[in-house]
Amino acid sequence: MFGFFKKKEKPIVLPPLDAKLIGADIHSHLIPGIDDGATSLEDSLALVKGLQNFGFTSFYTTPHVMLDFYNNSSEKIKCGTEDLNHYLKQQNISAEIKPSAEYYFDENFIKRVETNDLLPIANEFILFEFSYINEPENPFPLIHKIKDLGYKPLLAHPERYPFYYGREEGLKKLREHGVYFQINLNSLAGHYGPAVHQMADWLIDENLVDFVGTDIHKKSHLDVIERALRSEKLLRLVESGRLMNQGLK
Ligand SMILES: [Fe+2]
Repeated sequence: MFGFFKKKEKPIVLPPLDAKLIGADIHSHLIPGIDDGATSLEDSLALVKGLQNFGFTSFYTTPHVMLDFYNNSSEKIKCGTEDLNHYLKQQNISAEIKPSAEYYFDENFIKRVETNDLLPIANEFILFEFSYINEPENPFPLIHKIKDLGYKPLLAHPERYPFYYGREEGLKKLREHGVYFQINLNSLAGHYGPAVHQMADWLIDENLVDFVGTDIHKKSHLDVIERALRSEKLLRLVESGRLMNQGLK
């Protein structure tokens, strides 16, 4: 009869996972002023410090390479990374940022692949993204060209493309053609909405996630990443030992 006074059970909140167990963050926008990521060296510093505090041990920065908006050359990205590393050293930060890129699937990307003008992650993975609106008509020839160069194509945030919702076979087909998948930590915190969260969960359940990345652009993302690091789904994924971040230096 006194059930009325019973305390409601609180949901279990996990402590944030030590990102040391993830290892490398392979997707970030840390170079100031060359895309929609960090806006100044001070801003970059805050992002790197925040990520280090979570426990990440190494960093690949992946500025957008997109014909009409961010036509960043490999040289520009390398110089930007050098300047950033120089600044971090001055600030007594031990992290060394490695230059890579997030290639938008456009004609510019075709040219970069054809001329082998690419910045792979760990000499191995080419990170690329699709439009959020239009499904690419036939991505396979370019995917095969990337593989012919000896690289592994890696699709950024497959959970964020609405044209695959309800037709996940599209993602499975990419997989059959040798595409690796990287989900965003922010997706696991619900940052982009429930549909993206659900798709990220599905990818984990289907063992389709090879990498996680922060895709950090700004300081407010640090709070979201902290929430994602409390995700039980992420914990299970890390414990499974199948995340390839862990093998990268
Ligand atoms: Fe990104």
